[in-house]
Amino acid sequence: MKKFLTVMLTLLMYSSYAQDAQVVAKVGVKVVEQAYVFAPLPYAYDALEPHIDKQTMEIHYDRHHRAYYNNFVKANFDTKGNGMTLEQIFDNMDAFPDVIRNNAGGYYNHEFFWSVMSPNGGGKPVGRLDEAITETFGSFEDFKKLFESAGVSRFGSGWAWLSVNSDGKLFISSTANQDNPLMNVVEERGKPILAVDVWEHAYYLKYQNKRGTYLSAFWNVVNWEEVARRYMEATQ
Ligand SMILES: [Fe+2]
Repeated sequence: MKKFLTVMLTLLMYSSYAQDAQVVAKVGVKVVEQAYVFAPLPYAYDALEPHIDKQTMEIHYDRHHRAYYNNFVKANFDTKGNGMTLEQIFDNMDAFPDVIRNNAGGYYNHEFFWSVMSPNGGGKPVGRLDEAITETFGSFEDFKKLFESAGVSRFGSGWAWLSVNSDGKLFISSTANQDNPLMNVVEERGKPILAVDVWEHAYYLKYQNKRGTYLSAFWNVVNWEEVARRYMEATQ
């Protein structure tokens, strides 16, 4: 009886986190080993208007992001990654099947993306991050051009990133599909501090095929406070 109550209590606690009854039902009592949270979007769907439109945000968060999360949790349940943090999985990415690579990546990358945007975003970085950007890329304007170029030139679907490498230096990279710089399968590894999603689902409703226009507009919503926080954490 005690064991039954413990399992029920754990399930109840988990279900309040998971926000997805289907996932809980699918994996049953073993769900106690799962600790992956589908976090709420940190602002309203229309909060990034007019730069990123409400309908895009709604579909992006509630359908694409949710599907990555659900598919990751389901696929990961019977792998050795169950119970590992996403960072630990990314460190050993080459040991996992593509279904985990794609969906763990999609889940992490989108949570990351929401966090580096804000309705109060835009402007410029300040302090140590500003200095590092100028030192590495020449100026903030030069950095923006290089970052946009990484996004525009990504063939097909993927992401552009600003990250910190193992020497504490900034670098810009682009990854295909749902890969990210934390994975041990990408060419340039590091700790990401800024990302932009260049999958068509991130911009096509408002910008159609004009990915470059979407990337120019992206600067209006960048949450530089969060990027700076991530930079400080990555260079500690
Ligand atoms: Fe996306």
